Amino acid sequence: MRRILVFTIILLLVGILLASCSGMEPVGQRTPVPTMPYATPAPPAGPGMLADRTSKDYCLVYAVDAIQAWVKAQMPEKEPFEYTDALGRSCTATFADISILFTQPNVWFPGALACTTCHGPDLPVSFAMMNLSDFHGILAGSRRASPDAKGNDILGGGQWDKSRLFQVFQTKWMPLGRPATLGEKGPLVLIGNPK
Ligand code: HEC
Repeated sequence: MRRILVFTIILLLVGILLASCSGMEPVGQRTPVPTMPYATPAPPAGPGMLADRTSKDYCLVYAVDAIQAWVKAQMPEKEPFEYTDALGRSCTATFADISILFTQPNVWFPGALACTTCHGPDLPVSFAMMNLSDFHGILAGSRRASPDAKGNDILGGGQWDKSRLFQVFQTKWMPLGRPATLGEKGPLVLIGNPK
């Protein structure tokens, strides 16, 4: 009789112990906090994609190829320019599509700062004194003495292969903080539209 009582109590204690453990977070299984060179609060939009877009409505193209197409079309401000996307489709885009690549975070790689975080409109504190936040800033170039001054052309005068922009991508220098795994053409992104 006493043995049965002791056995029941032990069984009860084990039960309570198991029940309380199951509510606890298992030790050693926590998701490690990723280390990023720069703290960015927004979650990544996807592996280099722009959020809420599908490849049916948008063209799929390497970020650097899209910028190259715009420069080779002689940098139109409003008119659409044409290119062939990574799926071989004929596409059109405008500068508005291209500017996303300079002004939005999380485009070049998950956790990426926008180019404009470092190259913003406030020239004195902008790296290389260059404003990539709008059309006129991009055309005005780098190392500008004042907001009215033109700087060094970064678009090679419309000759992509000679441009400073091509150079900073080809050498995998920009965007600063890029992971080693990111190719020189950058990520595949969904921008522009099939014709
Ligand atoms: C974390 C900050 C940072 C980010 C993000 C960044 N850059 Fe830069 N960028 C720099 C720094 C620093 C330099 C060198 C400035 C200097 O030499 O005075 C530079 C230089 C450049 C230059 C060369 C300018 C010249 O005349 O020599 C270009 C072009 C450029 N960046 C383009 C970009 C583009 C395009 C992006 C986004 C895809 C980008 N950068 C993102 C910090 C950044």
